Amino acid sequence: MAKIKLDFEHAKAAVKGVEENRAKAADILAYLRRDEEDFTGWVNWPSEIPQEWMSKMETVAADIRSKCERLIVIGIGGSYLGTAAIVDALGGSKEGCPEIVYAGNNMSGYYHAGLKDIVDNYDTCLCVVSKSGGTMESRLAFSILKDWMYEKYGREETAKRIVAITDPAKGILREETDSEGYVNFEIPGNIGGRYSAFTPGIMFPLAVAGVDIKKLLAGAEAVSKDDEFWKGGLDYALARFALYETGKEIEVFEYYDPSLRLIGEWCKQLFGESEGKDGKGLFPASLTFSTDLHSMGQFLQAGHQVFFETIINIVNRDKDVKVPASAGEELAGRSLNDINAMAVKGVMAAHAKADIPMIKIDVEEMNEEALGQLLYFFMVTAAVTGKLMGIDPFNQPGVEDYKQEIRNLLGQ
Ligand code: PA5
Repeated sequence: MAKIKLDFEHAKAAVKGVEENRAKAADILAYLRRDEEDFTGWVNWPSEIPQEWMSKMETVAADIRSKCERLIVIGIGGSYLGTAAIVDALGGSKEGCPEIVYAGNNMSGYYHAGLKDIVDNYDTCLCVVSKSGGTMESRLAFSILKDWMYEKYGREETAKRIVAITDPAKGILREETDSEGYVNFEIPGNIGGRYSAFTPGIMFPLAVAGVDIKKLLAGAEAVSKDDEFWKGGLDYALARFALYETGKEIEVFEYYDPSLRLIGEWCKQLFGESEGKDGKGLFPASLTFSTDLHSMGQFLQAGHQVFFETIINIVNRDKDVKVPASAGEELAGRSLNDINAMAVKGVMAAHAKADIPMIKIDVEEMNEEALGQLLYFFMVTAAVTGKLMGIDPFNQPGVEDYKQEIRNLLGQ
């Protein structure tokens, strides 16, 4: 059963444009499911991932959990955002599991110098994730961290504390993994970084953090096969496309819980890198409410109306706080989550007055299964909207330009 419900009550104008492309979107989904194009391996992957991979991830995760208090995940873009987003959305590592720390998602010496304390003061393991194996940020961080690990544990023990996740056959990380004998997992060749949420690149570190990766995968698999769901589920891709066609340029992802901030970052990567080509695409932005209402609320309500809003709304939460009497008669005794739910309604009512198109995605509750469904749903949406826009949602030719300029400056 799908745990995601779409609410288009405040996007009626967009939904009008949905009808004419409905058959086309269904054809695109059927085409994606046939996995005939490069980098569409993710579409059926939740049903295809070998059972031995799941068992190996759980066995190795148990071993790593027994060895360390901190797992440093080295990776960038699609090779870490899914892990960070899911860990945060679930409230951090489960009790008794190592805390996950991230490296190689930037090139700040200041940031990375701070990681030395972690290696020095905690039992540490490394998980390096890079599909290509050659990404500059992850290569730099891996070499720095390995040096610190050698100082602390020696070379032989360090090798036992490294898990490498990379392409099955290509790249320098694959070569090093094979020559050093690191425990390793593969990211399948026909799955690209931002569509890799259900591969070991994301699921292995999650398993170390105590996330139930079987349930996460089960959520993705259930929604991937749920034809009933997709009859309406594709309307999100269609509405995004219709809004884009009417001139909207920005999609603002909004959520009323800071634990979803990195889900917003994950969405920005998925949609930005998938759609931003040939002068096309919606610019993805994200805001955490009510925090950002006190900075961006004014712009949303009355500024340049180039955007529409996509609200990710968690309907039921398993933790709450009761407001004490000192908060005043009107609020005393109420649940903070209920007040937050009123904020969702109130902000939407105010934005409706300003004619802002809004699509609400209700997520029944926050757990592994729901996250599996939600991330898979966004992946299909990005691919279908990209195809409707007439771009290739699976490549990223534009990122080569800045990388080359940096390499030139570094004399490489
Ligand atoms: O979606 C993508 O392909 C990118 O964001 C990559 O995930 C990112 O550049 C990291 O690449 P790699 O895993 O090869 O180090």
